Amino acid sequence: MSAVRRPLVAGNWKMHKTVGEAREFCDALATLVDVAAPLDVAVCPPFTALEATARALAGTSIAVYAQNVHEAEAGAHTGDVSAAMVLDTGATGALVGHSERRAAGDTDAQVAARVRAGIDAGLLIVMCCGESLDTRRAGQTEEWVTRQVRDGLASATAADIDRLVIAYEPIWAIGTGETATPDQAQEACAIVRRVASEVVDGTRLRVLYGGSVNPGNAAELMACADVDGALVGGASLDPGSFAAIVAAAA
Ligand code: 13P
Repeated sequence: MSAVRRPLVAGNWKMHKTVGEAREFCDALATLVDVAAPLDVAVCPPFTALEATARALAGTSIAVYAQNVHEAEAGAHTGDVSAAMVLDTGATGALVGHSERRAAGDTDAQVAARVRAGIDAGLLIVMCCGESLDTRRAGQTEEWVTRQVRDGLASATAADIDRLVIAYEPIWAIGTGETATPDQAQEACAIVRRVASEVVDGTRLRVLYGGSVNPGNAAELMACADVDGALVGGASLDPGSFAAIVAAAA
């Protein structure tokens, strides 16, 4: 963590929580999180629970982000949601390019277009990148992450810095319980920062680590110089464990 970049801890609920479950979570979380702490906290519910979550957290400092956003303003895109629709729910940001979305078919070109469309609409965009186990074993992590960051920022400009965050999430650490070591997280997040600096001010860019972050490992991961927070999956579903990770960042 650095003194100049405000930490961000975001919980990606993936395909979990009904509206009722989301409300219960928010009621509990609001009592557990220290709202005065100098950091940003966000939750990323499924589209169906965005509005209810935004309402439940209105008046708190906890933000709500979508898990993806389409690049088009409107049109024949069955099953997709535009940036304006996301904003309309009260959410203020969105993930883009999560590896689970890329595996489902989202392309590098779409990721770049979604970064652009989301920021233009006024969303904060958390663009995700990260290599597979095969890529890491082949010694190609740097090359892979470099390409993903360059491609994802193909339409970004220096002016986007306040609405752009990049999350490094190695696929082999997602949902596996196998976390990157602090050294591995630091090394990859430093690569992300260096490559993104071709476009935005790298000293201001927030780079998150994601992949089996939990209350036990969050502090050491976020202590790394180039890790400015966490994108949390499984451990963000329980208000107590998510609040503990937020406390570790604070
Ligand atoms: P886990 O924390 O469950 O490994 O998920 C990480 C992730 O994909 C967050 O976007």
